[in-house]
Amino acid sequence: MAYEWDPKLEKGIATMDAVHREFVERVDHALRAADEELASALQELVAHTHEHFERENRWMEECSFPPIMIHRGEHQRVLEAMEETLRRARGGEFAPARQLIEQLPAWFEQHAATMDNALAMHMRRTGHPETTKASE
Ligand SMILES: [Fe+2]
Repeated sequence: MAYEWDPKLEKGIATMDAVHREFVERVDHALRAADEELASALQELVAHTHEHFERENRWMEECSFPPIMIHRGEHQRVLEAMEETLRRARGGEFAPARQLIEQLPAWFEQHAATMDNALAMHMRRTGHPETTKASE
């Protein structure tokens, strides 16, 4: 199983797109990981996701994104699920981590098409500084 970047995920905000590309790469890496690499691949994915969500949460605050509670809540729910399966994978229980990782592409397609899309539009509408930045 593999996961790769799809141009339809592009939101036109350089930093958001760069972070989303990295998310896709890390999910792909975790999907391909053998049992002995699974916990470390998931650990990297969790570290990335933590930063990725924190950054979006900060942008939401900065531009007073109206559905911030819903978007932030979804971030938290996904991150907690990842952390829980990471704990279990470290204990040698791989199935929950694999199940979760396999669901991430579909979850992300949906999340990017709805919540991140709405956030990107709101950032542009309110002239958030991130919308005029070049790639990092
Ligand atoms: Fe998001």
